[in-house]
Amino acid sequence: MKNIAVFASGHGTNLQAIIDNIAAGKLKANLALVVSDNPRALAIMRAKRAGIRTFYVAPKVFASKQEYEARVIERLKEEQIELIVLAGFMRILSPFFIRNYRGKIVNIHPALLPSFKGAHAIKDAYLYGVKVTGVTVHFVDEKVDNGPIIAQEPVFVLDGESIEEVEAKVHKVEHRLYAEAIAWVLTGRFRIAGRRVVRR
Ligand code: GRF
Repeated sequence: MKNIAVFASGHGTNLQAIIDNIAAGKLKANLALVVSDNPRALAIMRAKRAGIRTFYVAPKVFASKQEYEARVIERLKEEQIELIVLAGFMRILSPFFIRNYRGKIVNIHPALLPSFKGAHAIKDAYLYGVKVTGVTVHFVDEKVDNGPIIAQEPVFVLDGESIEEVEAKVHKVEHRLYAEAIAWVLTGRFRIAGRRVVRR
């Protein structure tokens, strides 16, 4: 079974979904490490409750971003991590980090990319008045919310729905789609051709 790490800064509901899918046998992976940049992240508590090792170091104690990332990479190497799963990690990884794990970092975004990039995608889409938004799982490259798309699923915004209702629907899709996409990436049955992830 392949070792994966989840990076999370916040509530960790996507982390929880991954933990639950592994426990249910739907996602065959060993969640070896949860990395956080926030010592108060609920994600850390969720990991501890599930008996998963956690790794937190304060980014600001390092002289540079590269030194911080080098420390994280060292820990990932110790755990022989083969796939990095970003789940609400609020720190942009540098090209240095990405070079070390090219094609081995995935992210989930709560909108249909390339629409509504950034940290407030659900709200931005809602306020824009879209009828359809959704969820994107993609490989991470040097640009934010940019890499080749692994999976997308629409979420319809119905007349009269509140932002909270739309948010709940988006998160529900995230929690299922991310586990499915990770399981599929771990099979290795794909190739990346330019921007396109091609199944084989
Ligand atoms: C999710 O909406 C995810 O798409 C975005 O950050 C949020 C993280 O939520 N990248 P959680 O911490 O998993 O609850």
